Amino acid sequence: MATINTRKLAVVTGASSGIGFHLAQECARNGFDLIICAEDDAIHGAATELVADGTLVEPVQADLSTPEGVERLVTAVKASLRPVDAILLNAGIGAAGRFLETSIVDDLRQISLNCAAVVYLAKMLVPDMVARKQGRVLITASIASTTPVPYNAVYGATKAFDLSFAEALRYELKDTGVTVTALQPGPTDTAFFARARMEDTKVATDKKDDPADVAAAGFAAMMKGEDSVIAASLKTKLMGAANEVLPETTKAGIQARYHEPGSGKRD
Ligand SMILES: NC(=O)c1ccc[n+]([C@@H]2O[C@H](COP(=O)([O-])OP(=O)(O)OC[C@H]3O[C@@H](n4cnc5c(N)ncnc54)[C@H](OP(=O)(O)O)[C@@H]3O)[C@@H](O)[C@H]2O)c1
Repeated sequence: MATINTRKLAVVTGASSGIGFHLAQECARNGFDLIICAEDDAIHGAATELVADGTLVEPVQADLSTPEGVERLVTAVKASLRPVDAILLNAGIGAAGRFLETSIVDDLRQISLNCAAVVYLAKMLVPDMVARKQGRVLITASIASTTPVPYNAVYGATKAFDLSFAEALRYELKDTGVTVTALQPGPTDTAFFARARMEDTKVATDKKDDPADVAAAGFAAMMKGEDSVIAASLKTKLMGAANEVLPETTKAGIQARYHEPGSGKRD
């Protein structure tokens, strides 16, 4: 006899490590099956870890900085023949350094992954949610979304994009039953800093938030349909609040002290 799967389905990008892995774990613990995506084959190991308590997990290995990668994930989602209850658009990278010295390939790749893939996946997956009049969307922005970030100029701009896009889409969907939540982590202890070549910066060497705490706050806010959440520590919340009131040049100066190459070795 066929059994009816009553679990919901969540799609989580960037789920092989860091905040995304913990977001996927939160989903699994709260009754969601998963389609998870990352670029490298570690996504298969993450899937193995997430299969517990009857969670169905489908890993999709795809480079979301390319249209082909996005289309591969969308095809896998459609092939599941299941409605998507939650979309967590979290995959993101940095590529830090003085703008005059960063490679244009790295600059544009950040925009492709952090911005274009978010838009493309939302465009492909949100209409079905609206048709069903229910759904939860989480977009991982940053506390960097509300400040200029010298020495990480392109990254900061991509995160400003993510927050702006999330807030505007949220407004457009306000009467549809679909909510959009922006997750704004502060500095969080993940592979992000090494990948962005930021190990010698003050932001990378200072104490950072636990990605499990960040993900728990993000998941809870998403499920409540909140518009945004700054996560997770008090220090991060204060930094986020300061960004709302300080002038842009003041914020740029503060961020420069934390992001300038070599700043981690000064004190
Ligand atoms: N850590 C922080 O301090 C911090 C603060 C604010 C916001 N954030 C945001 O949090 C999100 C998650 O970052 P994290 O800190 O958890 O870093 P992370 O541990 O490096 O995780 C990044 C995830 O994105 C995936 N990814 C990278 N490039 C990809 C691509 N081309 N296609 C598909 N997946 C790709 C990675 O998979 P692969 O390894 O397979 O590439 C990994 O699963 C990002 O959007 C980041 O901007 C982080």
